[in-house]
Formats: sequence, C-alpha cells, structure tokens
Amino acid sequence: MTRLSKHHITLTVNGRACALDVEPHHTLVQVLRDQLGLTGTKLSCGEGECGACTVLVDGETVNSCLMLGVEADGREVVTIEGLEQSGELHPVQQAFLDAGAVQCGYCTPGMIMSAVRLLRRTLHPTAAQVKEAMAGNLCRCTGYRRIVQAVIAAGAALSTSEPKRRNQ
Ligand code: FES
Ligand code: FES
Repeated sequence: MTRLSKHHITLTVNGRACALDVEPHHTLVQVLRDQLGLTGTKLSCGEGECGACTVLVDGETVNSCLMLGVEADGREVVTIEGLEQSGELHPVQQAFLDAGAVQCGYCTPGMIMSAVRLLRRTLHPTAAQVKEAMAGNLCRCTGYRRIVQAVIAAGAALSTSEPKRRNQ
C-alpha cells in the first residue's frame, strides 16, 4: 500500500509561529492535541455535531475535527490555551467559573471559544443571541442556563476592560 507523505505546514498557534510535518489525513484537532500537546481542545463526536473541538481559525469558530491539519497552513489558530494572559484567565473563562457553568468540563473549551467569538462582535448579547451563537456547542451536564449567564456576564466584564483584551 502506498503511504502518502507528510505535508510541511507553517501556522500561528496562540501567537507562536509553528512549523510542522503533518499526515495528510490528520485533522486539526489531532495536530493540536497530538503534535503540539494542546489537549485543552477536546475531541468528542469527531463528526461536527458537538462543538467540543471548537477553536478559532483566522478569528472564526471552526470544528477542528472537521478541518484537516494541512488546511491550517498559513492560518492563525487560537485554542483555549491561548486565552490566558500573564497567568490571568480570560474574562470569559473567569465568568464560566464564577457562574458555575462548568461541570464535567468536557464541553467548556469549545463553549468558551464560541463565546469569545460572539463577544468580539457583540459585547452585550441577549440570552437569545447567546443561545443562537452557541447552538453548535452541546453540553450534557449544565442545562445551559449558567452558560448563558456566564457569557452575558463576561460581555459586561469585557466592556470595561482594555480594548486589547476585548479583541484577544
Ligand atoms: S468533536 Fe468536533 S464537533 Fe464534536
Ligand atoms: S459541563 Fe459536562 S458536557 Fe458540559
């Protein structure tokens, strides 16, 4: 059987330039977790249904189980590990903790990445807007109410923070 050769890609992950040789059939979540050790991004359904693997690629939310690693060539990827600044949690991370929006935590990194994208566009979303923006992120534990509360609270916190933090 012919084995396809690896592809060399360069990308930015959490602000750092990376050069990697990736298997052509490996997904971005595999590359992030297995090659870069960024295990904060979770792999659950592997079919684009649950949102656990959500990361930002060029500022947009992507199910990293559906994107090949080679497709990330030349792009900018942000994972949950990239949100903290100087040891301080991102306001969305803090709001999830404060609101008790985390139980088993498996959905949480993906939820937070979707919330970050929403709040970059709308700092004061309604509950309906939060639910719509997070519709692709499933949670089996929390019942969603506290997650919605956390996103709204994070928007309020971000609105009083430095502009740099808001766009992070
Ligand atoms: S693991 Fe990617 S959407 Fe479920
Ligand atoms: S906290 Fe367990 S799946 Fe959401």
